[in-house]
Amino acid sequence: MLIYHNYRGNKLETVSFINMADGTREEYEFLEELEKKYNADLAQRLIESLEKLENSLSGYRVSRLEHSLQSATRAHRNSEDTEMVVAALLHDIGDDLAPYSHSEMAAAVLRPFVSEKTYWLIKHHGIFQMYYYAHHLGGDRNARDRFKDHPYYQAAVDFCENYDQNCFDPDYDSLPLEFFKPILHAFFSKPPRFQH
Ligand SMILES: [Fe+2]
Ligand SMILES: [Fe+2]
Repeated sequence: MLIYHNYRGNKLETVSFINMADGTREEYEFLEELEKKYNADLAQRLIESLEKLENSLSGYRVSRLEHSLQSATRAHRNSEDTEMVVAALLHDIGDDLAPYSHSEMAAAVLRPFVSEKTYWLIKHHGIFQMYYYAHHLGGDRNARDRFKDHPYYQAAVDFCENYDQNCFDPDYDSLPLEFFKPILHAFFSKPPRFQH
């Protein structure tokens, strides 16, 4: 292990290896502890990502943040479980960094914390959502049909119908992000199902 001083004069402890193959057990245990502390702030980072959606895609009558809040609020008011409320809130979190595969990004964030079903429907919501607009742009609105026999097909149809395509209403009384913050902190503080 090494101690060095950063440009602010703070003492930082680091591992000594420069190739992972040379790390010791002690060093990897040290890194694991730091990673755990970093991961404990996941909910906070997700909240900050949601806040950025206020200035995301334009042209709609609501911001992407409002769309997300509307989606989560509708899920909450329909007495969906916490997992679905969180999934609804985060379903477009990939818009900023994965504009060509945003569904997969949101699904990947959720995956260690949710059921296979929720993971699947968030991962595919982009394709299922095409039903509402693709025919206007020369695309195939029925692209979702290729999943017709999938056990979660109807869940994805329902998600898009109830918590996505109808969440662009500037007059809907969405709950504020403040309401969902403690829910996110509690949800992402549970141990993940896997890590890699
Ligand atoms: Fe989406
Ligand atoms: Fe959406």
